[in-house]
Amino acid sequence: MTNDTGHGDAAGFAEAGPDLRSLLRRATSDAHRRLDAGWGGHDFAKRRDYAVFLAAMAAALVPIEAELDRAAQGAVPPDWPERRRSGAILADLDALGRPAPPASVSPRAPGRAEAAGLLYVLEGSRLGGQLLLRQALASSDSGVRDNTRFLRHGEGQRLWPSFTAWLAACPPVDREGAVAGALRAFALFEAAQAAQA
Ligand code: HEM
Repeated sequence: MTNDTGHGDAAGFAEAGPDLRSLLRRATSDAHRRLDAGWGGHDFAKRRDYAVFLAAMAAALVPIEAELDRAAQGAVPPDWPERRRSGAILADLDALGRPAPPASVSPRAPGRAEAAGLLYVLEGSRLGGQLLLRQALASSDSGVRDNTRFLRHGEGQRLWPSFTAWLAACPPVDREGAVAGALRAFALFEAAQAAQA
């Protein structure tokens, strides 16, 4: 289950060619594959595996969202507040008896390009989340089934297409900066996954 669409090198941004979303997808495909593979052995219908996944996701997502909260107006989509999922994932974790990740001491304010890369990763994670939601909802454990606020977030709102439309309509000039932001986001998710493993 990977977004097998490129070679995962960051070289693509040297060429003026692909649209930014394609560039981001290509530059991060190796990181995505590693992350996907890292969760491969987990059974999201099992409460323990599911809680470990949520804890790892929250450890990266909550600080990234705190950074994006500080981004300048126009660096995030106008509906950014509705896209935030920190509240949903923290509520799921709390209900499952897991602690919230430590708050970042002083979140940075990402620039326009970096914010685009960070957002790409957060918004893209909704796509794989649909597959995981199906597994969680099929669980025999109501503790799993009843705590899917994070995976269900944005249901029916087509947040991924509206994000890619926003990105295409006003892409940052600094494409390398956007790629760097996306790679940093994936690195945070990978580190959080390794810490939970
Ligand atoms: C845990 C297991 C995961 C699975 C099974 C998975 C699976 C997928 C799938 C199937 C897609 C393509 C969906 C489509 O094109 O309709 C996708 C896209 C994507 N996923 Fe994941 N994913 C997982 C985790 C993650 C995580 C944790 C992140 C980031 C935090 C992430 C970031 C992305 C991004 C950015 C895209 C969009 C790629 C593009 O530009 O098309 N994924 N994922």
